[in-house]
Amino acid sequence: MAILRRSPAILLALTLALAFSFASAKKLKVCDKGWECKNSIYCCNETITDYFQVYQFENLFAKRNAPVAHAVGFWDYHSFITAATGNKTMKMREIAAFLGHVGSRTSCGYGVATGGPLAWGLCYNKEMSPSQSYCDPNYLYPCTPGAEYYGRGALPVYWNYNYGLTGDALKVDLLNHPEYLEQNATLAFQAAMWRWMTPMKKKQPSAHDVFVGNWEPTKNDTLSKRLPGFGATMNVLYGDQICGQGFIDDMNNMISHYQYYLDLMGIGRDYSGDNLDCAEQVPFNPSSKSESS
Ligand SMILES: *[C@@H]1O[C@H](CO)[C@@H](O)[C@H](O)[C@H]1NC(C)=O
Ligand SMILES: *[C@@H]1O[C@H](CO)[C@@H](O)[C@H](O)[C@H]1NC(C)=O
Ligand SMILES: *[C@@H]1O[C@H](CO)[C@@H](O)[C@H](O)[C@H]1NC(C)=O
Ligand SMILES: *[C@@H]1O[C@H](CO)[C@@H](O)[C@H](O)[C@H]1NC(C)=O
Repeated sequence: MAILRRSPAILLALTLALAFSFASAKKLKVCDKGWECKNSIYCCNETITDYFQVYQFENLFAKRNAPVAHAVGFWDYHSFITAATGNKTMKMREIAAFLGHVGSRTSCGYGVATGGPLAWGLCYNKEMSPSQSYCDPNYLYPCTPGAEYYGRGALPVYWNYNYGLTGDALKVDLLNHPEYLEQNATLAFQAAMWRWMTPMKKKQPSAHDVFVGNWEPTKNDTLSKRLPGFGATMNVLYGDQICGQGFIDDMNNMISHYQYYLDLMGIGRDYSGDNLDCAEQVPFNPSSKSESS
């Protein structure tokens, strides 16, 4: 997969369930391991502790605790692994946050649905009754005659230029074949993960960044009430379609999905984190139709 050679960050997102780790530096080998897997790098279920073990660490740093070393007793294998693999609770929170977005965007659960409205994520894979073909005359990604750029995928992609950008990133010709996103679930999830990991604009944070704490709000951000947390992920992904409008249903629905998944995953909504909503946040980007709507 060319995309993976080009972009370790995306590989990372895909193989390690959205969490950054040193494992990304690992070779991109194809394997046949794991559940329902054949000839794909996604099948590698190995973790760093499978292929980099304590004896190897000891060999590499054999003298770190020698009497003349200057940090005797400081460095250890366990700390390295923790740093490289991260915090499981944090990773599961991010999976819940990402899937909370996906679930709320693909749900067909309304009021009286059996199992409750939150049990119906991944019900849709495309916009059911598009009101238009979402073609914006755009010299970089001109519409292909006959192609329709209505919403498709797990975090639905709308508009020719968004199909073009996403396709470039994933090395798949989505501009000419937007329908791939409703035909291939792996691709649909990859597109959603790419969106999660990628800033909308240069110098802005991604949803991943604002969620895991990679992002340091500027003074402007603070004045605009943009602070790290789940709320800011909605701001990055949807701007004023969801944020800065008080506690509107669409926003509450995303938060409910996130918390429902936290509960089901055994983490619990107590770990929702600070700044859960974006009711009062000023959008990172003033809207137009610039993003998936
Ligand atoms: C990895 O895959 C192997 C082979 O399918 C399986 O036996 C093993 O339990 C898996 N390990 C994990 C941590 O899932
Ligand atoms: C992991 O993250 C959780 C939630 O952010 C935090 O409460 C916990 O202290 C962290 N654990 C470690 C070992 O850093
Ligand atoms: C679906 O997409 C994945 C990832 O881009 C690709 O590897 C796979 O070949 C596609 N499957 C089909 C049936 O086209
Ligand atoms: C801060 O916000 C003001 C007003 O919204 C804007 O004009 C200015 O460019 C922003 N500064 C930075 C560094 O983003």
